[in-house]
Amino acid sequence: MTLHSAKIGQPVSRIDGLAKVTGQARYAAEPHPAGMLYGFIVNSPIARGRIETIRDEAARAVPGVVEIMTHLNRPHSALFEKSYMDGLGVPGSPYRPLHDAEISFNGQPVAVVLAETFEAAREAAMLLEVDYERWPHNADFEASLHQKYMPSKTRSNYVPPKSRGNAAEAYALSPIKIEGRYHLAPEHHNPMEMHATTVIAEDDGTFTVWDKTQGPQAVQAYLTSALSLSKDQVRVRNPYVGGAFGSGLRAQHNVFLAALGAKMLKRSVRITLTRQQMFTHVFRPEAVMNIALGAQPDGTLQSMIVDGVTDTSRFEHNMENLVIWGLINYKCPNATADYKVAPRDTYTSSDMRAPGAATGVNLFEMAVDEMAYACNMDPLAFRLHNYSDIDAMHDMPLTSKALKEAMHEGAERFGWYNRPIAPKSMRDGKELIGWGMATGIWDAMFSPTSARATLIADGRLHIATAASDIGTGTYTILAQTASEAFGIPIEMIDIELGDSTLPECPTEGGSWTAASAGAAVWLACQSLREKLFKTLGKSGNISAWLTAGLSNNTTVLQDGFLQDKDADENLRLSLSEALSLTGQDRLEVEETAKPGLRGTISQMRKARFTHSAVFCEVRVDEELGIVRVTRLVNAVAAGRIMNPKTAASQVRGAMVMATGMALHEESLMDERVGRFMNHNFAEYHIPAHADIPDMDVLFVEEKDREVSPLGVKGVGEIGMCGTAAAIANAIFHATGQRHRSLPITPGN
Ligand code: MOS
Repeated sequence: MTLHSAKIGQPVSRIDGLAKVTGQARYAAEPHPAGMLYGFIVNSPIARGRIETIRDEAARAVPGVVEIMTHLNRPHSALFEKSYMDGLGVPGSPYRPLHDAEISFNGQPVAVVLAETFEAAREAAMLLEVDYERWPHNADFEASLHQKYMPSKTRSNYVPPKSRGNAAEAYALSPIKIEGRYHLAPEHHNPMEMHATTVIAEDDGTFTVWDKTQGPQAVQAYLTSALSLSKDQVRVRNPYVGGAFGSGLRAQHNVFLAALGAKMLKRSVRITLTRQQMFTHVFRPEAVMNIALGAQPDGTLQSMIVDGVTDTSRFEHNMENLVIWGLINYKCPNATADYKVAPRDTYTSSDMRAPGAATGVNLFEMAVDEMAYACNMDPLAFRLHNYSDIDAMHDMPLTSKALKEAMHEGAERFGWYNRPIAPKSMRDGKELIGWGMATGIWDAMFSPTSARATLIADGRLHIATAASDIGTGTYTILAQTASEAFGIPIEMIDIELGDSTLPECPTEGGSWTAASAGAAVWLACQSLREKLFKTLGKSGNISAWLTAGLSNNTTVLQDGFLQDKDADENLRLSLSEALSLTGQDRLEVEETAKPGLRGTISQMRKARFTHSAVFCEVRVDEELGIVRVTRLVNAVAAGRIMNPKTAASQVRGAMVMATGMALHEESLMDERVGRFMNHNFAEYHIPAHADIPDMDVLFVEEKDREVSPLGVKGVGEIGMCGTAAAIANAIFHATGQRHRSLPITPGN
């Protein structure tokens, strides 16, 4: 077999696929150190109050129970609140597990049973008796709106909305107006792999922590800070992650509690959350957006007024970029937006795939559809008419925006141009058919990232960075990048990720990893090749053709061999031979990619976004109100696509999630106890295969040399943005009925 370099842009299958399907890939709950204890978390059944007494006689009597850890007997942890702030945390007072007797949310851990078996731990957890003093609480979102506020300190990635013109006056004067209250139900994270931690108590007194996280270095920083440990006492690993969509951005309570238990008993501890326990901590906030749009009869937008609120806990201010997207994406002389958060007695809502935009773009695009109809215009034509070539909110140029191309190519693929404008005009028997569309927008971010490249004796290239592959295909695209940058077949590359000891890489999220880690690996590989050539040039015992080639700059490294591009192609040297000629057993470099690399981005002051145009067909049973999505086309403009196979897979996955947002997923609160009550897959509906049609994802050509060093924008989140709106808009086209609250179910 001849091995070839796999270039960036090729549809390479996942290099970690075999390890995954054969069960060799190791996840957080899989290491099984000798003497490991199982921890089971006991959750508070009340939303607010304090623990009065804990009676643990019956629980301790269960054979195999070793300890019951509570706020009364837990080991010492950091004194100050700020030691519990995590890197991607939010302003406010971070929750400190088992800190004291106070209860701030239903589901709050009040104890951890540690036992020799999982069954014993769980049985004892059920026998633990806790008495509470109950305080009044509010878990009702509508009621919390009366207390909405703007936090005095914002999240680091929060973008404040910026007004232009006089939106109120322009709205009053607009001949065509629409106004509505749009709503999104809370949704919970349900990745295949639930949050889990295995803490291995090593013989030398250090801890190796296997955790389901998107950022091993962030978890390491959190644990060292919260547990007052030094950096070399804690190593965090997450080589494989069973899907993560933001719930692993912040360190979760299970990792803290497992480490606390291990510290207390000096034994290895594993804590896994049950599916039901996943429903207390990790959810996308409920949101309400009041949107008013004004236009001229010819469809020219005159005014946009957006007012949005999302929920947060009483102790932390989770904030989203909810209201800015329409102001950025549409040309309109007058626009204003306001955003606040509303506190209720639950755990803090959190980031979930395209946080802010998944909600804000979809709800806004539903309003845009209403306005297009109010102007009696085709929704695609309306959007093209109000198209902005710049970031209209900041009045700032963009590195690129091939949204127009995406709209045209997507429409072409879908067959949009045959669409009758009038709602309820297509039917097949009992089914009404509707076609809807929307556009999507998401940040194209870049974070400084380091990577190490090492050439080892057998000629293999070893790449290491602390990035996480959260199921996105990071291993694969980094291997492609290294293959092209160094000139070596992909089969000769080993990629090591998911370990806090590796070169620094930010937590994987925000769709920034492909651009950021990709650039770091590219730089490291280029620099390693230069080092190899330089070291060889200094070596006394290389052949004449190589000496000549190195001094004439005609030596190339391709497909894992050094050759001379001007000389006989039979003269070549393998990488292991080359390395041995240098007299060293390895060559290694580490590089850091930064924004502004090669002096472009930092000087240009341009805004950076990914865009998409989504087209949808639905069929609605006229008698039963059942909606089926029958076609979805998503045209994405995301700069350079590193791997069309894994990239399309990202977009499809997000479109499935967005289908859930539009039609199925809804966490229902029992306000009396402050608990999300449908905490299982029987009652919390996620789309099944039968709910999802063939999905067509196309990538529009978009050359962008400024957005990131490799021209990459990232695709993890864009598929969420616009898809739910396209479905909602198609339902209107099918039925003539507007639904402004997601999910749209037969009952609402
Ligand atoms: Mo994503 S919500 O940044 O994992």
